Amino acid sequence: ENEYSLRPKTLREYIGQEKAKGNLEVFIQAAKMRREPLDHVLLHGPPGLGKTTLSGIIANEMGVNVRVTSGPAIEKAGDLAALLTNLNENDILFVDEIHRLNRQVEEILYPAMEDYVIDIIIGKGPSANSVRLDLPKFTLIGATTRAGQLSAPLRDRFGVTLRLELYTPEELALIVKRSADILEVPIEDDGAMEIARRSRGTPRIANRMLRRVRDFAQVRAGGVITKKVADEALTALEIDYLGLDTIDHRMLRSIMENYRGGPVGLDTLAATINEEAVTLEDVYEPYLMQLGFLTRTPRGRCVTAKAYQHLGLPVPGVTAGES
Ligand code: ADE
Repeated sequence: ENEYSLRPKTLREYIGQEKAKGNLEVFIQAAKMRREPLDHVLLHGPPGLGKTTLSGIIANEMGVNVRVTSGPAIEKAGDLAALLTNLNENDILFVDEIHRLNRQVEEILYPAMEDYVIDIIIGKGPSANSVRLDLPKFTLIGATTRAGQLSAPLRDRFGVTLRLELYTPEELALIVKRSADILEVPIEDDGAMEIARRSRGTPRIANRMLRRVRDFAQVRAGGVITKKVADEALTALEIDYLGLDTIDHRMLRSIMENYRGGPVGLDTLAATINEEAVTLEDVYEPYLMQLGFLTRTPRGRCVTAKAYQHLGLPVPGVTAGES
């Protein structure tokens, strides 16, 4: 009964991401018919949308093992060589945060992806020798929140690129109901919808909220998740009715109050509210942009009239009574 057991194991069980799912179904079936490994897959999009889950599903559907690691965890060329030489034929290597691989590691990855070989340097100086090792055929699945940060040579070596999108509230409500079922907690439809609407398009957040709402439901509402208890729990957790938390609010307010609505550069904004620029960019901005509260311009970030309205503040330049 943990996060892991909530993960779907098959494409059929996986809710949403219809475009990615439809394409994957074809590529998986074709690879299986040819008895070949699936071509290398790059998954990109905001965190928490199911990149790790999807790689587990791909492995399961292909009938192979998946080895899970991450860019920062592979420090040296030898670390990657050890991972690759221990794979079985057609296995999957899942590398999360693949944009954080270092240069040397990335360079030995190229021939591994293209020709299933690695070149290892043995010895030092004039007597150093390069030895070529054959690898089992394998599939690399790389995941990143920022496809733009991948080097062009690495990006070009993926045969399949899938972009994961934020989920709709309706899709998230289905995910919440499925999870509640697994956790054996009764939930009403509008209770699921309330959690879904406040999960910023992200299943990981929806499942986390479900557990916290379940706590409130158990202690204060006889165990059933209703809209009322979901609202009570999420309000207590300082999640507003669109799912914005205190950091979203500080971001929007800072742009309004310190920078007259923008534009303000990302680094300047991050320093002002004492948060990491990459966190704001990868975690916070996608949802604020989907809501139409924030825009990215060449000169920096700007808030919109909708953002002022959501925070209950007057929209600058609009006379009272006009809006
Ligand atoms: N749990 C997390 N993500 C999911 C998804 N996309 N479908 C079903 N269950 C999930």
